[in-house]
Amino acid sequence: MEENRYLTFALGKGRLAKQALALFEKIGITCEEMKDKDTRKLIFVNEEAKMRFFLSKGPDVPTYVEYGAADIGIVGEDTILEENRNIFEVLDLGFGRCRMCVCGPREAQELLQKREWIRAASKYPRIARDYFYNKKHQTVEIIKLNGSIELAPIVGLSEVIVDIVETGSTLRENGLEVLEEVCPLSARMVVNPVSMKMENERITKLIRLLKEELSKS
Ligand code: PRP
Repeated sequence: MEENRYLTFALGKGRLAKQALALFEKIGITCEEMKDKDTRKLIFVNEEAKMRFFLSKGPDVPTYVEYGAADIGIVGEDTILEENRNIFEVLDLGFGRCRMCVCGPREAQELLQKREWIRAASKYPRIARDYFYNKKHQTVEIIKLNGSIELAPIVGLSEVIVDIVETGSTLRENGLEVLEEVCPLSARMVVNPVSMKMENERITKLIRLLKEELSKS
């Protein structure tokens, strides 16, 4: 193991990154540079711990980790399933809990029960396809969207959507409901397979400390 090599972390921008940094602080890993809200820097270094952190769009985290540009990533299980990268998923971090669901107006329930041919809009076409084709054995047309998925059944683009439900308020405010649950989700720590071998000691220690911390709550 090279003593001076930086361990690089890719964090999915937003709430997950904040919660991940709060968790790291509890086990003594801090990154003061990152707390400066006005900074335009993209990469933050903790020289003492020989660690580097950067923020990226969630779906890019598994890409950075697969290619080894980051040793470790923090990202939602939804993104891991959708991106299907060659990475090791090593730890459920417990936060960012939500559910992947098939949602729509109540009337769409019957179409699902009868396994009718329908359209399903989603930001997660791979997850949607896997659910309908491999688990439900229902033929559907998957329409890829990039956000505000709830619009699709309202404006008649699709009968249902496959999307994340956290509090359920977006659905409620738009007259939609959870019709079927695909899977529960939470934030995960992922590791590059080569880093896992080359930096085994440091990464294993990190996982152990995080597990100990998580078991306290
Ligand atoms: C996500 C998801 C839902 C919403 C669910 O969207 O796609 O729209 O959050 O949360 P809730 O159950 O607490 O209402 P996000 O805010 O990430 O934006 P997006 O619609 O642009 O994907």
